[in-house]
Amino acid sequence: MATLINKIEDQDARQICRHHGDREENLLEILHAVQHMSGYISDSALRTVAQALNISRADIHGVVTFYHDFKREPQGKVTIKICRAEACQAMGADDLIREAEAVFGTQLDAPNIDVKLEAAYCLGNCALGPAVLIGDDLYGRVDVKRLQHLSLQHSEGRQA
Ligand code: FES
Repeated sequence: MATLINKIEDQDARQICRHHGDREENLLEILHAVQHMSGYISDSALRTVAQALNISRADIHGVVTFYHDFKREPQGKVTIKICRAEACQAMGADDLIREAEAVFGTQLDAPNIDVKLEAAYCLGNCALGPAVLIGDDLYGRVDVKRLQHLSLQHSEGRQA
């Protein structure tokens, strides 16, 4: 059964497709726009895009799953990416992840409405590990206390 949110997402996805000429070669731009609008690409939006571009859902699904930046589930209010690459691991990234999971009551890569924790593999801040990315903001030498503080600032919409 279609919900009101599905219906709105469908209309928005349809409008985005129209804006891009309903052309298959614009699929990536369309998917980015849909995700920007809703924060993720719902089944309903995926179906709408497939119909508008006259391509199979399997084809779009393949594209969405190939690019890790596309999300298929609603994201948390704050998404925290914690670097797990070598330099950050040497500086305690795995401990930070364990502590963050306990503090935020979630697991790495699990959907969560408030705070979503994701693994990253080198954020280009190797000298200042553990490195963390929240939104577009990169932080270095992050411990769990600072992470809580930064998360709170980002969820309140302030710059940290
Ligand atoms: S290894 Fe973590 S930022 Fe490069």
